[in-house]
Amino acid sequence: MSILIIGSEGFIGSNLVNYFKAQNKKVICADIKAIQRNDYYQINPADPNYDELFSHHNFSICINASGSANVKFSFEQPKLDFDSNTLIVFKLLNAIKNHQPNCKFLNLSSAAVYGNFSSEPLEENIHCNPVSPYGFHKWYAELICKEYHVLFNLKTISVRLFSVYGEGQEKLLFWDMWQKYVANKNNIELFGSGNEARDFLHIEDVAKAIDIVITKENFNGAAINIASGNITPIKEAASIFYSLLHTQDAQYSFTHHAKKGDPDILAADISKLKQLGFTPTFNLQEGLSKYMQWLQEKK
Ligand SMILES: NC(=O)c1ccc[n+]([C@@H]2O[C@H](COP(=O)([O-])OP(=O)(O)OC[C@H]3O[C@@H](n4cnc5c(N)ncnc54)[C@H](O)[C@@H]3O)[C@@H](O)[C@H]2O)c1
Repeated sequence: MSILIIGSEGFIGSNLVNYFKAQNKKVICADIKAIQRNDYYQINPADPNYDELFSHHNFSICINASGSANVKFSFEQPKLDFDSNTLIVFKLLNAIKNHQPNCKFLNLSSAAVYGNFSSEPLEENIHCNPVSPYGFHKWYAELICKEYHVLFNLKTISVRLFSVYGEGQEKLLFWDMWQKYVANKNNIELFGSGNEARDFLHIEDVAKAIDIVITKENFNGAAINIASGNITPIKEAASIFYSLLHTQDAQYSFTHHAKKGDPDILAADISKLKQLGFTPTFNLQEGLSKYMQWLQEKK
């Protein structure tokens, strides 16, 4: 099996590369970064040529781990967010259709497609109601995956990631908590009230879940949630994170200002994923402990 990973140098992409290589799978990497490596194909972001990529190599599956995971940026630069989260999916699928119609396509989508609902776990078939350009653009990308399956018979699937964290991540909640601790541990201000809640999944479990989806799911244009099935309030997550420092010196408080476009609670129904045989390896304490070790070694 040969796996093409688009966005191979990013947080999730690079962890997927390591995961599949450790399983002795043939992995081909592609990203816009300037890197010299035998397994690497550099994409020109100004004029990406996916036709060339798909006409020169054969792949069993293409995983699209590129794109931006930034709600704030999507409000500031909706066109750029659209290009990186939606247009690229159209271009990749068109190239697959033209050159390798048997290559499966797995797109990294997001829980942001759901929008702001109740605290009930979100099941894949409920109506999407995004509250940010990012959420809309991820949803359009899912529809394109469905379009290319229904109309052109390509094998596509979207995986809706909830809150992913772990080694290699240099953005989002826990990275922000760490940066603020390093900058001024006596006065750490965290967004929101602390009562917002998320379903966190460690990156190794995300890779494991994607592997299970690739092995067992029909690629029929549908979407599937990838999460742990448990939500944690942000104040509890902060307490776990800072207690891993084994000092009492982190003084944090919440600003009580919510970030625009961030739903209060995102709880996942992972029945579909569980039916495929997935159970997470790490709880939040264990996963954060691995991440904390990485952060401290990096410092
Ligand atoms: N991190 C999360 O918690 C999370 C949650 C839900 C969904 N996602 C989705 O997962 C994907 C990856 O997220 P991440 O956190 O690893 O992001 P990241 O920014 O760390 O990685 C994205 C990678 O894509 C590359 N890239 C950008 N444009 C490209 C192009 N045209 N062709 C090839 N590569 C390109 C970048 O150089 C970067 O290496 C995104 O689509 C994001 O929306 C992430």
